[in-house]
Amino acid sequence: MLRTTLLTLALTGAACATHYPGLGLHNDYQQGLAINGVPAEDRLKWMRIANNAVREINGDPCSIAPFGVAVVNTTSNELVCVAANRVGLTGNPTQHGEITGLDVCSEVLRAKGLSPQEMLAAWKSFTMYTNGEPCPMCASALRWSGIGEVVWGTSIESLIAGGRSQIYLPSSMIVSASYALGHQTLWLGSVLSNETDPTFAHQFNESAPCPADCQRVTLPGKRVSQCTANPGWRESWEKRRGQWEANLIAEHGAHSHAHDEL
Ligand SMILES: *[C@@H]1O[C@H](CO)[C@@H](O)[C@H](O)[C@H]1NC(C)=O
Ligand SMILES: *[C@@H]1O[C@H](CO)[C@@H](O)[C@H](O)[C@H]1NC(C)=O
Ligand SMILES: *[C@@H]1O[C@H](CO)[C@@H](O)[C@H](O)[C@H]1NC(C)=O
Repeated sequence: MLRTTLLTLALTGAACATHYPGLGLHNDYQQGLAINGVPAEDRLKWMRIANNAVREINGDPCSIAPFGVAVVNTTSNELVCVAANRVGLTGNPTQHGEITGLDVCSEVLRAKGLSPQEMLAAWKSFTMYTNGEPCPMCASALRWSGIGEVVWGTSIESLIAGGRSQIYLPSSMIVSASYALGHQTLWLGSVLSNETDPTFAHQFNESAPCPADCQRVTLPGKRVSQCTANPGWRESWEKRRGQWEANLIAEHGAHSHAHDEL
């Protein structure tokens, strides 16, 4: 019996490994576990903030690039900043959610009066929650930052399955190649993926359901339908989300930054 179970596990492992040749173990299945002294519910809470960051900050509930992040002080459980992908808002192709998060949080720390050296030291006490697995650019930037933890929702593999162009490297490969840096980062995957996956499933799949507050429309001159915000979506969203979330995002979000750049 034990022998059969071990064999099944080995075969499952081999099946997963084929996606990432040479990499036997991918850090999936972290749902519900209290890792590094953080209750599982807190992981879910901050991942939901990250997953709604584009809706809140960029004002689009059915965005084509719905990548959002929340950066939290791991021990105090306090939000440092919320940020959203702003490639389309700024024309700056490096402004993925995670890079924007590093930028916005740096501004927050600078505004608090931290010196550059204090800022560099602060990252190790933070966790970044990101609803999509970091791409190689972002994973590298996060490893350079010395951030203490990175927690992601939807895997690069699922992003690709949903039709999105990606660089075909899992973030764990960047982590495994960055062993010479003088700090470690705990890297947790697939947290709240049951809620982050649908965020990325509708952009290239005309059969996929739209996110809440959006419906499929074929715009004039287009050959494929696209999820488009319902009129009055913001009121309906504001009724559903908690006031505490609204207050957090108002205090720590990046509204002004996003719009300053337009
Ligand atoms: C993070 O929270 C801890 C515990 O409250 C605090 O001691 C530390 O200064 C905080 N880190 C930063 C960079 O604010
Ligand atoms: C997603 O899974 C989490 C547990 O990991 C659960 O708390 C949550 O209710 C689920 N979300 C939905 C929409 O079912
Ligand atoms: C497209 O969406 C439908 C409905 O959610 C799903 O059944 C189908 O598997 C999706 N197609 C792909 C290629 O993911």
